[in-house]
Amino acid sequence: MSKPVILTGLRANNDLHIGNYFGALLPTVDMATSKAGEFQVNLFVPDLHSFTTPIDHSKLAAQIDHNLRLFVAAGLPVHNPDVHIYRQSYIPAHSELTWILDCFTGMGEMGRMTQFKDKSAKLNEDRISVGLFNYPVLMAADILLYGAAYVPVGDDQTQHLEFARDIAARFNNQFGDILTIPLPVRKQHEFFGKDQGLRIRDLQDPTKKMSKSDESGKGIIFMGDDPAAAAKKVMGAATDSVGSIHYDYASQPGISNLLEIYSLLNRQPIADVAVEWEGKSSYGELKSSVADLVRDFLSGFQEQLAAVDSKALYAKLEADEEAMGTVARNTLHAVQKAVGLRA
Ligand code: TRP
Repeated sequence: MSKPVILTGLRANNDLHIGNYFGALLPTVDMATSKAGEFQVNLFVPDLHSFTTPIDHSKLAAQIDHNLRLFVAAGLPVHNPDVHIYRQSYIPAHSELTWILDCFTGMGEMGRMTQFKDKSAKLNEDRISVGLFNYPVLMAADILLYGAAYVPVGDDQTQHLEFARDIAARFNNQFGDILTIPLPVRKQHEFFGKDQGLRIRDLQDPTKKMSKSDESGKGIIFMGDDPAAAAKKVMGAATDSVGSIHYDYASQPGISNLLEIYSLLNRQPIADVAVEWEGKSSYGELKSSVADLVRDFLSGFQEQLAAVDSKALYAKLEADEEAMGTVARNTLHAVQKAVGLRA
């Protein structure tokens, strides 16, 4: 019996900040590290998903490469034989299965997807792409090709996972037991633990999450920031006039955010950090401790990023794309047979 499959997309953007790093990248890396062995862990770059809305295509290839390096620099165990990394567009079965599933999908079903409704309402385009509309079908193909039971999903993706279950069940009902139905969202949450989401707030406005949409960039620590400049941003973080340190977001959001960053960078539980600093009066001391941690963390990460071994990375990618291509083709073939495309 082969190992049960965990599958997820490796999503990162170019101006990654520490909120994304701790909220998204690192949890994926930690999950892969702890589950490989008992499970097969498929991690892929959903490159075909990257232009459902308009992008600058001259930058895409470099972004995909950078994205992979970011995960490797964050510690992704690429050399573990249970960890498979691949680029979606290198495995044509994703596109082929999508087309077949498209023909079993209702327009109404896709139109009801809240992410589609939100994104298409916000788009300032005269043309909403069919790709944006049926992207949940591609996502279902991503999952079903590998018989993945376990798919970690954030709140924005739960409806898409439910759709993958629906379409697999619909297909099996009509054609027999061909596709593996992923576990329901509730079970995914039990298995992975409920995702806590991004915890880090903006340094200048600690009532909101750190987000790249902040224009000035003063409240955000980007992973590519010069370490000394990032330390300065921490020293300039907004605090309050209470005069003593308490971990309490309601009354001291700025201080609490600094404690949170301290806890993440020092890999120390927030409860311990809160006790350690409780009642102290020197905000300057807290800031400079966090600034030091930020400086060291960024220079360490940037060194690791620069040291990523391209040759080894691409050798692994290509080997996995070949192996996973075979798995995907087998599933596709079973589907093609079921629908009468193959004898
Ligand atoms: N849609 C996911 C996101 O926006 C990325 C993704 C694409 C994905 N295909 C997937 C995630 C399959 C899990 C499984 O985050």
